[in-house]
Order: sequence, then C-alpha cells, then structure tokens
Amino acid sequence: MNRSLIAASILSANFAVLGEDVSRVISAGADLIHFDVMDNHYVPNLSIGPMVLKSLRQYGISVPVDVHLMVTPVDNLILEFIRAGADFISFHLEASDHVDRSLQLIKDNGCKAGLVFNPSTPCIYLEYVIEKLDMIVLMSVNPGFGGQSFLPIVLNKIKQVRRLISQSECDILLSVDGGIKLGNISCVSNAGADVFVIGSEIFHQLDYRSMIDSLRIALL
Ligand code: DX5
Ligand code: ZN
Repeated sequence: MNRSLIAASILSANFAVLGEDVSRVISAGADLIHFDVMDNHYVPNLSIGPMVLKSLRQYGISVPVDVHLMVTPVDNLILEFIRAGADFISFHLEASDHVDRSLQLIKDNGCKAGLVFNPSTPCIYLEYVIEKLDMIVLMSVNPGFGGQSFLPIVLNKIKQVRRLISQSECDILLSVDGGIKLGNISCVSNAGADVFVIGSEIFHQLDYRSMIDSLRIALL
C-alpha cells in the first residue's frame, strides 16, 4: 500500500527567514519537513546542523522532521540530531563504516531509522538490514544540491524496492528524493513511492499551497 506523503526539502527554503518559511510550507499542506545535512566532505556542499533543527522546534515547528544525513562519519551526528528533535534519521550506507551499528544507534535512542541509496548503489545491500528499517530513501539525483534533474533509471529501482518491502512484510516507508516535479510525480508514485521529497518545485513558487494542491491532484 502506498501512502503519498509530501516531504518539503528545506534546502530550497529562504534561510534568512527559515522558521517563517517552514511554517508557511506546513500551512500549505506539507506532511513532513525534510532536513538536508551536508558536510562538504561526503558531498560537495555545506548546509545546516542540529542547532538549526533545535531552533525550528523552539520556534514551534511540530510536524515530523525527516533528517537526511549526507555526512561522514554519521554516528556522532545521529545522537546530536535525536537530541535536537528528529523523528526520522537516514544516512547513506557508504558513509557509515558499520551500517547495522548506526541503524541500531538510531533505534536505541527512540528515533525511526532510514537508509539512503545513491542512484548507482544497488539495493542488494538491503538483504541483511531491511528488518531494522522504518524508511528506505532512494536518491533520484546525485546528492549534494537541490534543483537537479530526476534520473529516470531510478524508476526501476523504486519498483524493485517496493517489491522487496512487500515481501518483507515490514512497515517501511519508501521515500524518493531529488528532481520530483509536477510533471513526473505520478510516475514516481506509480513505481511505488510513499514519500515524495520535494524542494525547488515547492519553494521556488510564490504560492506553496497551490503547488502542493496540484502535486496531490497529480497523485490521485
Ligand atoms: C539533494 C537533497 C534533496 C534536494 C531535493 O542532495 O537530498 O533533498 O534538496 O531538492 P529538489 O526537489 O530541488 O531536487
Ligand atoms: Zn534530501
């Protein structure tokens, strides 16, 4: 069963008025806030850390926050983001020396755990960890920047992972991140995604609600 949640990626938000912009996107209908963390090491870009999440929580942002770690090493930041108020924490399997240990660290501290697959990373890696996952994130762009084009090769991977989730009988959200637009969201949904991470297509509009409404209509 697909669930169709829209996760607004705040990488494309206005950082000068971040609390206000995040509130606006939630009022406009976003289900989750997707919080992209980049370290200029694992990916060639630098973004925001746990103190920004803590400030958003203090500002009153109460919807689930889905932290996407594009950092190495991951374990120390996992704990920092749990303290700051994350609901989901996902990391790239290439970024952790001990994937199972990092997943367990997230779960032992009461958070939901996700594993992120780059476009060229095969899903065979799921075999021994799927039962520990609450979310699988398939990157549909190479991580590091907002506003890139969706890589269509990932559609087959979405279908494949949807089948693996069904076979596992685990309750796992299938999230797709990068390049999702009004023109391709229905293909991503038909392939089997539950969570649609969307940055530029929402934040580059004047009217967030009208874009989110249109995205939902495209999902029907
Ligand atoms: C890319 C990030 C994405 C990105 C999505 O590394 O993980 O979350 O911000 O932005 P758009 O929707 O613009 O591709
Ligand atoms: Zn992301």
